[in-house]
Amino acid sequence: MSRRQAVRKAVFPVAGLGTRFLPATKSIPKEMLPIVDKPLIQYAVEEALEAGIDTLIFVTSRKKHAISDHFDTAFELETRLADAGKLELLARITEIVPEGVARVHVTQPEALGLGHAVLCAESVVGDEPFAIVLADDMIRSQGRGALAQMVDVHDQTGSSVIGVEEIPLEMTGSYGIVGVKPFAEKLQEIHTIVEKPAPEDAPSRLGVVGRYVLSPHVFSCLRDVQAGAGGEIQLTDGIAAMLKSHQVLACPFSGVRYDCGSRYGFIKATIDYALEHPGLRDDIIDHMLGILAQYLPEREP
Ligand code: G1P
Repeated sequence: MSRRQAVRKAVFPVAGLGTRFLPATKSIPKEMLPIVDKPLIQYAVEEALEAGIDTLIFVTSRKKHAISDHFDTAFELETRLADAGKLELLARITEIVPEGVARVHVTQPEALGLGHAVLCAESVVGDEPFAIVLADDMIRSQGRGALAQMVDVHDQTGSSVIGVEEIPLEMTGSYGIVGVKPFAEKLQEIHTIVEKPAPEDAPSRLGVVGRYVLSPHVFSCLRDVQAGAGGEIQLTDGIAAMLKSHQVLACPFSGVRYDCGSRYGFIKATIDYALEHPGLRDDIIDHMLGILAQYLPEREP
């Protein structure tokens, strides 16, 4: 029988090496790269807060002070902005995390994989359902955020919930892929999950995106997981073991996802968010019209 406990804690694994963005990520974590004027991690935190999360757990490596600095008080900067009467700017840095929301930083001593990073948060999460948000998967929603949609499903069913999206068959090697059977309108029950299979081995074209609401049972499963795809301890393998005893649902959220771990996805997100920004929109459109006028003739046959 599933328990219906509220989801209050979210884990943000931010200890990856970010090699696809080198040299930009040589000294800062990839989650600190900005889309327009906010770092990826801040968008992820905002999505979690909207879903009702009140405890943010960052799993960092030793070098990642930038993440904790970003969410901490910046006394000197705040004083200068206040003295200069720049209140709008001041609000931008003081209202990132509302009062009453706890921040916890956990160190992952070695980059042994996503499953290992999540396991590092076990003692802080304890025995309650929790969310995982991968900040480099950015999801822009018109209405309720993707994680909030998934927490709603968890609240209704008591089951673990994984965000999924249909992906092109040739991309299965970049995602966790789920095999499913019907469950309810828009939802499916996961019976298989495989990390980064070749297209011919993929159980479907439903790829896992970086949003999870999981039973704490996943921790005991992760403890038994051996290094898998890429020689890493994979979260997917822990979830696969959990399927034997716990129901896990696949949730196709409404919203647009950007793979900001890739340069192309990152640039698309930058353009789309800039177009939504009232102070930038017209200038960006003018610039793009100029670019199109320059490049379109080159592409015409
Ligand atoms: C991770 C997960 C993978 C998931 C993906 C979503 O992979 O291991 O199952 O589909 O995030 O972004 P990574 O992109 O960290 O290699």
